Amino acid sequence: MRLQRIVLACLYAALAFCNVKKGPAELRDKYDFIIAGGGTSGLTVADRLSEALPGKTILVVEYGEVEYAAGIYDPPRVFWNESGGLASRITHSGLPSPALNNQTATVLVGQVVGGSSAVNGMFFDRPSRFDFDAWTRAQESPEFDNSPEKWDWNGIYPFFKKSVRFTAPSAVVAAQFGYTWNASHFDNTSRIHASLPPFLWGDINVSQTSWKEMGVRPGQDPASGDKDGIFWVPISQHPITGRRSHSGLGHYLDVAASRPNYDLLVRHQVNRVIYPGGNPASDNVPVVEVLSRDTGRVFNITATAEVIISAGAIYTPGILQRSGIGPANFLTSRKIPVVIDLPGVGSNFQDHSGPRPAVNWRYTKPTDFSPMPDDMGNPAFLADAIAGFNETPARGPYTLAMSNLALFLSLPNMTANYSPILDKVRSLISSGKTISDLYLPPVYGQDGSLIKGYIAQLEALLEFYSNPRAPSLESAFATGFNFPAVLLHPLSRGTVRISSDPLTPILDYRSASNPIDIDLHIVHVKYLRRALQTPTLQNLGAVEVLPGENVQTDEELEAYVRGNTTQSYMHPCCTASMLPKEKGGVVGPELKVHGAKGLRVVDISVLPLLPSAHTSALAYAIGEKVCSPCEKR
Ligand SMILES: Cc1cc2nc3c(=O)[nH]c(=O)nc-3n(C[C@H](O)[C@H](O)[C@H](O)COP(=O)(O)OP(=O)(O)OC[C@H]3O[C@@H](n4cnc5c(N)ncnc54)[C@H](O)[C@@H]3O)c2cc1C
Ligand SMILES: *[C@@H]1O[C@H](CO)[C@@H](O)[C@H](O)[C@H]1NC(C)=O
Ligand SMILES: *[C@@H]1O[C@H](CO)[C@@H](O)[C@H](O)[C@H]1NC(C)=O
Ligand SMILES: *[C@@H]1O[C@H](CO)[C@@H](O)[C@H](O)[C@H]1NC(C)=O
Ligand SMILES: *[C@@H]1O[C@H](CO)[C@@H](O)[C@H](O)[C@H]1NC(C)=O
Ligand SMILES: *[C@@H]1O[C@H](CO)[C@@H](O)[C@H](O)[C@H]1NC(C)=O
Ligand SMILES: *[C@@H]1O[C@H](CO)[C@@H](O)[C@H](O)[C@H]1NC(C)=O
Ligand SMILES: *[C@@H]1O[C@H](CO)[C@@H](O)[C@H](O)[C@H]1NC(C)=O
Ligand SMILES: *[C@@H]1O[C@H](CO)[C@@H](O)[C@H](O)[C@H]1NC(C)=O
Repeated sequence: MRLQRIVLACLYAALAFCNVKKGPAELRDKYDFIIAGGGTSGLTVADRLSEALPGKTILVVEYGEVEYAAGIYDPPRVFWNESGGLASRITHSGLPSPALNNQTATVLVGQVVGGSSAVNGMFFDRPSRFDFDAWTRAQESPEFDNSPEKWDWNGIYPFFKKSVRFTAPSAVVAAQFGYTWNASHFDNTSRIHASLPPFLWGDINVSQTSWKEMGVRPGQDPASGDKDGIFWVPISQHPITGRRSHSGLGHYLDVAASRPNYDLLVRHQVNRVIYPGGNPASDNVPVVEVLSRDTGRVFNITATAEVIISAGAIYTPGILQRSGIGPANFLTSRKIPVVIDLPGVGSNFQDHSGPRPAVNWRYTKPTDFSPMPDDMGNPAFLADAIAGFNETPARGPYTLAMSNLALFLSLPNMTANYSPILDKVRSLISSGKTISDLYLPPVYGQDGSLIKGYIAQLEALLEFYSNPRAPSLESAFATGFNFPAVLLHPLSRGTVRISSDPLTPILDYRSASNPIDIDLHIVHVKYLRRALQTPTLQNLGAVEVLPGENVQTDEELEAYVRGNTTQSYMHPCCTASMLPKEKGGVVGPELKVHGAKGLRVVDISVLPLLPSAHTSALAYAIGEKVCSPCEKR
C-alpha cells in the first residue's frame, strides 16, 4: 500500500523527499515557526503555514513517529487493543472521582505523527451552532468583542467547510441505507476525508426507528450546525479504500513531506519554552527546549517568528506549567519560577461523560438481523470481510468504523420537567461565590478570575440547556443492545497538573463533583429507557437489563449513575481555554497566550466549553482558522 511504502521510506531509507529528522545534527540553526506536537491541529497549522509561506521555515517537534495508523476495526482486529495495537496509543488513568464511588477515568491519546486523529474512533461530526453562541457569551469582554477574530458559528463555519473533503456515497448505497447528507457544507479541497460507509450491521434500524417513534425529528445532516435530531454521521476515512484519514496523512505525508521549508523532528519531546531575557511580555519569541527520547540529550531550538503549542489537552498544560506559565501557587510548590501567573493553565478540564451510563436490553423473541458483529466469529464471513476490505472500492464490515448513526437531543425535548435543573444552575450563579458553593477545585480560590469565568460559563450553559435546539444528550454506536447516554455539557470541572514524569500528567477529573451532572444523567437515562416501550422494541420483545427493574426511584437512578458512569469519552479538552484573562482564560481570540509574546496554543485545549460533537472535526477547524490568512504572519 502506498502509505506503508512512504512510511517505510521515511523511517528507513532517508530518501531525499522525506523531511523527517531524527536529531539536532539534522536541523537548521533556527526556524521561523516551531510547532510543539504533530497531532490533529498541529499538523493542520504546519501544512497551511508551509504552503502559504514558502519563504519561511517550519519545524514540527513530535513525541511519536511516523506509523501506519490502522482504522479501529481494520484487520487484524486492533480495537484499542494494547497488546496487538499500536505502540502510539497511550493510556492514562485519572485520579479517583469521589462522586463516582472513587472510580477512575481511562483516557487514551495518540502519541504519533497524526496525534489522536490517527488512533481515534473516526466518528466525524461537527458541533451545534449553539455551542459557539455559548462560547461567545462566556467570552464577552472588550478584548473578544472588539477582535476581528470571531468564534461564533459564522466565524468558524468556513473553516469546518475548508477542513474536510466529503465524498457522497453511491446512489445504490444511499438508497440501501436511506443515507441523507448535504454536500454543500464541504468545499472538497482538503486531503482530510469524510465518507459514509457502504456497510451497516443488520440491526441499524432498531435505534433509528425507535427514536423516531419517540417523536424525534430526523436531521438532514450533522454538518450544518443544526445538531438536534437523528443523524447519519460521516466517518474519517477514504471513500474508496476505506482506510483511516488522519492529519499525519492528509496534512503531512500526502502534501507536506516533500516541502523544502518544512522539517519534522520525531521521537523528541518538547519540555518547555524559555524566554531568554526572562520577560515574556517584551522578549520576542521563546526558545524551545527539547529532549531526545533516544539519547536523553536536552537542547534548545530557536524560533524567530512564533512558537505554537499543539500537544493536545492533556500535554499542552504540562508544557506551559514546566515553562513557568500557570497557577503561581502550584508552580511555586513545584519550585518552578513563575514566568506568568495564569491560573487557567490546566484548569477548566472537561470531558464528555459516556458511553455509560447506558440503557441495555435483551430480546425475548427470536431476531433475524443479518449480518451482525457475531458473524465475525464465522471463518468464512471473516475471510470475506478481509477480502472485501482489500478490494477497490473496499466493501464490508471493515469499512464501518464504530457506527455512523447518532441521536442528539436537548433537555426540553427529553423532559417537560427540566426547570428544576435550570433553577439549580440559577441558584449557583446567584449564591455561589466560593469554590465549595460551586463545587470547584482549590485552584479556583487562588484569585477571582477563575470563578468569574466559571460563572460566565454557567450563564452561557443556562441559556444553552433551555434551548430546544441545543443538545444535552448524545446516543451513538447504534448496533447491539444498548443506548449509550453521553453527557455533552457537564458542569463539573477538573484539573491537569504535571507530575515528576513529563509524560504522566495528573488528571483530576472530579467527574460529577457538581451534583447537577447527576441530575442531567438521570434525565438522559429516563428518556432512553422510555424508548424500550416503543412499538419497534416491544415487537422485538425487548426487556430492560440495565438500569433494571430494581432501579426505579430517582434515588435508585442516582446510585445507578454513580456506579455506572464512564468519565472519559476520549474528548479531554479546555485546559488552556480561550477566555479573557480576567475570566481565567489562557489564550485570547487569536489563540495567543495572555501576556506572552510569540506564543500560541492551537489544539483542543483552547475550547472554553465542550462542543455537542466528538472533537476531531473541531481540532481541524481550529488549525485552519488560526492560519487564515497565513500570509499575515
Ligand atoms: C481513543 C480515542 C478515540 C477518539 N474518538 C474520536 C472520534 O471517534 N471522533 C472524534 O471526532 N474524536 C475522537 N477522539 C478525540 C479527537 O481525536 C481529539 O480530540 C483530537 O484529535 C485532539 O487533537 P489535538 O490536536 O488537540 O491533539 P492530538 O491530536 O492528540 O495531538 C497532540 C500531539 O502532540 C504530541 N505531543 C504531546 N506532548 C508532546 C511534547 N511534550 N512534545 C512533543 N510532542 C508532544 C502527541 O504525541 C500528539 O501527537 C478520540 C480520541 C481518542 C484518543
Ligand atoms: C489483540 O491483538 C493481538 C494481536 O493482533 C491478538 O492476538 C489478541 O487476540 C487481541 N486481543 C483482543 C482482546 O482483541
Ligand atoms: C473515596 O476515597 C476517599 C479517600 O480514600 C475516602 O475517604 C472515601 O470514603 C471514598 N469514597 C467512597 C464512596 O468509597
Ligand atoms: C463536494 O463533493 C460532493 C460529491 O462527493 C459534491 O456533491 C459537492 O457538490 C462538492 N462540493 C463542492 C463545494 O464542490
Ligand atoms: C432501514 O430502513 C430504511 C428505510 O427507512 C431502509 O431503506 C433500509 O434498507 C433499512 N436498513 C436495514 C439494514 O434494514
Ligand atoms: C444544504 O445546505 C445549503 C447551505 O446551507 C442550503 O442552502 C440547502 O438548503 C441545504 N439543502 C438541503 C436539502 O437541506
Ligand atoms: C423538540 O421538540 C419540539 C417541540 O415539541 C419539536 O418541534 C422538535 O422537532 C423536537 N426536536 C427534535 C430533534 O425532535
Ligand atoms: C536554552 O536557552 C536558555 C535561555 O537562553 C539557556 O538558559 C539554557 O542554558 C539553554 N539550554 C541549553 C541546553 O542550551
Ligand atoms: C452499577 O451500579 C450499581 C448500583 O446501582 C452497582 O451495584 C453495580 O455494581 C454497578 N455496575 C457496574 C458495572 O459498575
